[in-house]
This record gives sequence, C-alpha cells and structure tokens, in this order.
Amino acid sequence: MSEFRITRTLPEDAMAAALRADVQKGLTSDPKTLPPKWFYDARGSELFEQITELPEYYPTRAEREILAGRAAEIADALPARTLVELGSGSSEKTRHLIDALPRLHTYVPVDVSDTALEQAGRALVAERPGLNVHALIADFTAGLALPRSPGPRLLAFLGGTIGNLLPGERAEFLASVRALLSPGDALLLGTDLVKAEDVLVRAYDDGAGVTAAFNKNVLSVVNRELGADFEPDAFDHVALWDTTNEWIEMRLRSRTAQTVKVPALDLAVHFAAGEELRTEVSAKFRKDRVSVELAATGLELERWWTDGEERFALSLSVVR
Ligand code: AVJ
Repeated sequence: MSEFRITRTLPEDAMAAALRADVQKGLTSDPKTLPPKWFYDARGSELFEQITELPEYYPTRAEREILAGRAAEIADALPARTLVELGSGSSEKTRHLIDALPRLHTYVPVDVSDTALEQAGRALVAERPGLNVHALIADFTAGLALPRSPGPRLLAFLGGTIGNLLPGERAEFLASVRALLSPGDALLLGTDLVKAEDVLVRAYDDGAGVTAAFNKNVLSVVNRELGADFEPDAFDHVALWDTTNEWIEMRLRSRTAQTVKVPALDLAVHFAAGEELRTEVSAKFRKDRVSVELAATGLELERWWTDGEERFALSLSVVR
C-alpha cells in the first residue's frame, strides 16, 4: 500500500518574518535589491507557468527534452529508492524520472507552496500503487531534515533555480545538500548554460511582456504583505546580461523620482529617476564551473547530459 503524507517544517509566520527582513535589508541597500524567491505568490506562480510556454523561454523545454530522453540512463546510473526533489512545484517534468525508477519506494517533493504539493502528491499515489509520497513544506535554502526512507537517495534540483543563488549562497547551499547525502546517494542538478547574449536576453524580456509582468509582480507582493504603495507601472522591466559574472540580471527601473512607503516596516524609500532595483540574478553555467563548484563541496560530477542544442544541462554527482 502506498501512502501520502505532508509535513510542514516551515512555521506559518516564518515566511512573513523572512519577507519583512528581506525587504527591510534590500530596500535600504545601495544598490537596492529584492530576492527572487518573493516572485512566487499565486499570481507570480501562474505568470511563471506562462513564461515556461513562451517561444523565447527555452530552459523548461530544453530540460524536459533531456529528462524525457535520458530518464532511463539517469535511473540506470542511480537506481534510487528515494527521490527527493527541491522546489518541486507541479512535479510535471519529474514524472519522466519517477516512471523510469522501478525500485522507487518514496518520493519526497519539497516546496514552499502547499497547494502544489497537495495536488501533485495525491495524483501520484493514486497513479502509482506502492509509491509513498512524503511531501515537505519547507524552505530548502534554510536547512532540511529528510524523512527516514530507504537508499540510495537521488536528490534532484531542477529548472536551473540554482542560478538564482549568488556564488557564496551557492557554495553554502551545495554544502547543505551534500550533508543530506550518504555514500551511494547522488545529486541531479539542472543548470542553464552560457550562450549567445541575444538569446539569453530575449528569454528574460519576451515580446508579449509576460516576464515584465512577472518582474513587477514582486512589487504587488510587497504591497499586499507589507502595505506598501508601489505603483508597478511606475517602473520599467530591465533584463541585462552581465558578461563578467555570466548571469542575467532582472531589474525594475524607476521612471521618475518617487518615494514609496512601506508602513509595516515604518519605512519610506526614495527612488531617483532611472534608479534600478535588482530583483533577480539568473546565473548561466559552463561545465567546468559546475564541476569545480561541485568538487568544492566533495561532490564529483560523473555524468553530463544536454539537450540537442546544448542550451541546458543535467549533471549527476554520486557521493563516494
Ligand atoms: C525558475 C529561477 C529557473 O531564472 O530562469 C524566469 C525564473 N525569471 N524568467 C529563471 C525566471 C525570469 C527562472 N527560474
């Protein structure tokens, strides 16, 4: 018999406290910043789903192509009995992997959104008799405790979301992931790859303006949660390629000089005309950098799969 369990390791008010701290720090810094994790309220998650279907936004399709074509090879390289997925969302792409793992005993999707976990989890246990789903409502950047389940464990972090972390945060994150794994376990990591600048910039500045709406939505989140009076349309969406750091930056550029109030923080924030607020870094990788960063945490890159156009990569690192 299979079972579905959902565990909340994230206290109800922890998210609210984290948002306050991030907004306080980010809007009083120079330059101003906000962390990308606050894009994803219900509206932001819906806009992101739309982004994944845009002709310009290739990462989701490229990663799906790899998972669909290579699931059997991945399963062969690591016949997991437990699959942990960080930032699982709808678990849509992961189905390929789940279907390819015949010995899979427990699937552990981890997400901050309980609605996504509930839906995806129930559908899975209904479809696959014998598979246990133990969903975790948790912030995986804050340290995780995994349920007891049989090894070997495969920990998947897909979508290229690791690119949202700055280099120091990435090192810290990889170390915490490594700490969850034992010899024989593995990390399956999705990374978007460095490519022509125009292709990258268009993926983050689409013709239909969906990414612009997604970017501005973070201001609506701050308005709703902290009572701020941001006027989203008083800002322009900016996407640029930073050649030195090899990352895409999304920013919001103030059209005029303006002051925004954030009552919950007793804060008034002044923007000069043309001043930019950084809302996201999305790092792009080369194989060398992935392998060096993994090695720095004691993980050895063993397999590397790309889509046919070499836009995106999945790497597998087995713990020895
Ligand atoms: C979900 C973090 C992988 O960085 O490409 C999409 C988010 N931002 N368009 C990315 C995003 C703008 C996306 N990740």
